[in-house]
Amino acid sequence: EKGTYPHFMLKEIDEQPFVMRKIIQEYQDENNDLKLDEDIRAAMKECDRIYIIAAGTSYHAGLVGKQFIEKLAEIPVEVHVASEFSYNMPLLSEKPLFVFISQSGETADSRAVLVKIKELGHPALTITNVPGSTLSREANYTLNLYAGPEIAVASTKAYTAQMAVLAILAVDTARAKGLELSFDPMQELAIVASAMEALTDQKETVEELARDYLATSRNAFFIGRSTDYYVCVEGALKLKEISYIQAEGFAGGELKHGTIALIEEGTPVIALATQSEVNYGIRSNVQEVVARGANAMVVSMKGLEQDTDAFVIPEVHELLTSLVSVVPLQLLAYYAALHRDCDVDKPRNLAKSVTVE
Ligand code: M6R
Repeated sequence: EKGTYPHFMLKEIDEQPFVMRKIIQEYQDENNDLKLDEDIRAAMKECDRIYIIAAGTSYHAGLVGKQFIEKLAEIPVEVHVASEFSYNMPLLSEKPLFVFISQSGETADSRAVLVKIKELGHPALTITNVPGSTLSREANYTLNLYAGPEIAVASTKAYTAQMAVLAILAVDTARAKGLELSFDPMQELAIVASAMEALTDQKETVEELARDYLATSRNAFFIGRSTDYYVCVEGALKLKEISYIQAEGFAGGELKHGTIALIEEGTPVIALATQSEVNYGIRSNVQEVVARGANAMVVSMKGLEQDTDAFVIPEVHELLTSLVSVVPLQLLAYYAALHRDCDVDKPRNLAKSVTVE
């Protein structure tokens, strides 16, 4: 039920702080320790490499998840687009663990990979919003996203839930391996929840930005470095699928290798600046595109902001910025689609779950 909301997408964007709190509650025991299936813990500890398989937005969550697992749990991770995996199957490690990320748990491209790797005898963990789904039933283990039903075709709360659960999984594995961590995922996710709330309260600001930057444009580019780049590809997917604006996410450092040729007078360029490590680099990229006429909109994080930034997100742990910086991008896509009279919840040519290969 949409309740008072005009669209499911807006409702689902707004639900994200609650989903964060639900995840904290579900993955914590009475002693405030992480609560995870012992078998999953063992599988994570035993594997020598993780292969994340997913499509669309879930693939984008996987890109961020790779960073969590590599940085915190020190296990090498490869992230693969499900539909491409079979054509160029990588050489597998000795003890691979396959992690399927899927909101619906019904994506046929991912299922095809699951069938194949099961034939090879490899273990699989599915991270899904639908525990009884095909990918969940057919894998050895399941982690639930607890995001509640996601109805809008554009995935929003499932994406942030996927990243939250991946962060918890990474920390749990790190602890099981006896690694020393100063990162407390539950405390940091609680801060993320509050930051999300602050952002969903700023809809009018984002609506204005959508009007100023995207009302008539045919295309739009998102640029970022490091984690911000992964959120850029997600922000671009959101915008293209519901507003039909041709949108792409690019790594800031790649601009000079070709993309900058596309910038002309008035081209909207949305830049993310939430990582101190790459702040200098992305700021130079913004200057480069502005010098070529781009209409640049910078979304930065508190502490790294500059006076000319269009939008500043509250400060959260650097590892978790993607869960927060995506919120204004989701809202930007929503309002851009709305202003163009697009069918926000049911964009043309798309289905909520893609059950054909
Ligand atoms: O249900 P899944 O997470 O497996 O779906 C994967 C993609 O089809 C899905 O994320 C798609 O890209 C969304 N429409 C993006 O908003």
